[in-house]
Amino acid sequence: MSTTQAADMANAALSPFGALEHQPGDALLSLIVACAADPRPDKIDLGVGVYRDAKGETPVLDCVKLAERRLVEEQGSKAYLGADGNRVFVSLLGDVVFGEGMGGRSYHTALQTPGGTGALCLGAELIARGNPGRSIWMGEPTWPNHAPIFRKAGVPIKTYEYYDVAAMRVRFDLLVQALEQAERGDVFLLHGCCHNPTGAELTGDQWQEISRIMSARGLVPFVDVAYQGLGDGLAEDAAGVRAFLNTASQALVAVSCSKNFGIYRERTGALYVLAETADEAARCHENLVSLSRVFWSMPPDHGAAIVAAILENHELKQMWRHELGEMRDRINSLRGQLAAAHPAFAPLASQRGMFATLPLSPEAVLSLKEGHGVYMTLSGRINIAGLGAETVSRFAELAVPLLGRS
Ligand code: LMR
Repeated sequence: MSTTQAADMANAALSPFGALEHQPGDALLSLIVACAADPRPDKIDLGVGVYRDAKGETPVLDCVKLAERRLVEEQGSKAYLGADGNRVFVSLLGDVVFGEGMGGRSYHTALQTPGGTGALCLGAELIARGNPGRSIWMGEPTWPNHAPIFRKAGVPIKTYEYYDVAAMRVRFDLLVQALEQAERGDVFLLHGCCHNPTGAELTGDQWQEISRIMSARGLVPFVDVAYQGLGDGLAEDAAGVRAFLNTASQALVAVSCSKNFGIYRERTGALYVLAETADEAARCHENLVSLSRVFWSMPPDHGAAIVAAILENHELKQMWRHELGEMRDRINSLRGQLAAAHPAFAPLASQRGMFATLPLSPEAVLSLKEGHGVYMTLSGRINIAGLGAETVSRFAELAVPLLGRS
């Protein structure tokens, strides 16, 4: 060993960062950078899950602009609101997700969080603290950030196959099998609607069946609601969550406002916890507050203030419903066009939300990117909102010959 190497090693041992290893870049976030740097004018960005209009843009919604104007004029202070965040926001958003008055559920608590990710992290920590050693079950494939969030909190992860990518269909039988294998107190992470990354939904009857089995077996749902209103409608997309309202003794629900209000970078979300008794709800709340105080002390306000301003004003709320409907209609229309472009895409017509996972190998995905400037995740997930009426057929022509991952 040279003297320089020996000195380097000694320095590394002294440095507080000496043990840090290089980390792979986040695959989704790297796609944003790679696509932006691609000079090809006909590139197609089907990467990160951001809504795009017919011009390929992600504009600020009119209702958001109006709410922001009001805030500038009327907001009198930016002093701390406290660990709960904006309580009006949490309550009005709760009405949107669960129905008026939390759908009549007696015992519950909630906290505003930095985005849906903040809600998932907080929920994961609550589970780790509330019932150590209980597992979280995840259907595969799922959003790539789900497993790291629960792993970081120390919650053991178990998986089952949710979607058969090659056959492009939900394996409900395997979900039921997992529910039957799980131990009492285990938690199931479920996508409330617009499944990310597959778009493959559960039917109303399937939600009811899951809810029945979970309550009979003492299992706990943790529902991730990140795309409400972008599938079939606000109430329709809440059917999954609401299936648990009157059956589950306990449940956790992480909500994101990023997509349905188009306020991605404002980091706006909430975690709702359904409890069995008033005392349990109080203990959950106290623990959520003590956990969040350590993580972020208090959640960022601006996005929550926007959402509250929209939801508490009849006109702005109507405007939001209309703009959300336009986004939904465009996504569903593109789905229909893609499904009609080739029989291999037919299952996409009955799926919902921004995403579909196509049976494309990583090599096929890379060849689409390198050869044609078509960007999607290596798993074959596409953001349908990244297509346009003029690019659907070009995408189908390029992708169909490559389909067929086993
Ligand atoms: C996505 O899945 O593309 C979005 O939810 C963005 C993200 O944070 O991963």
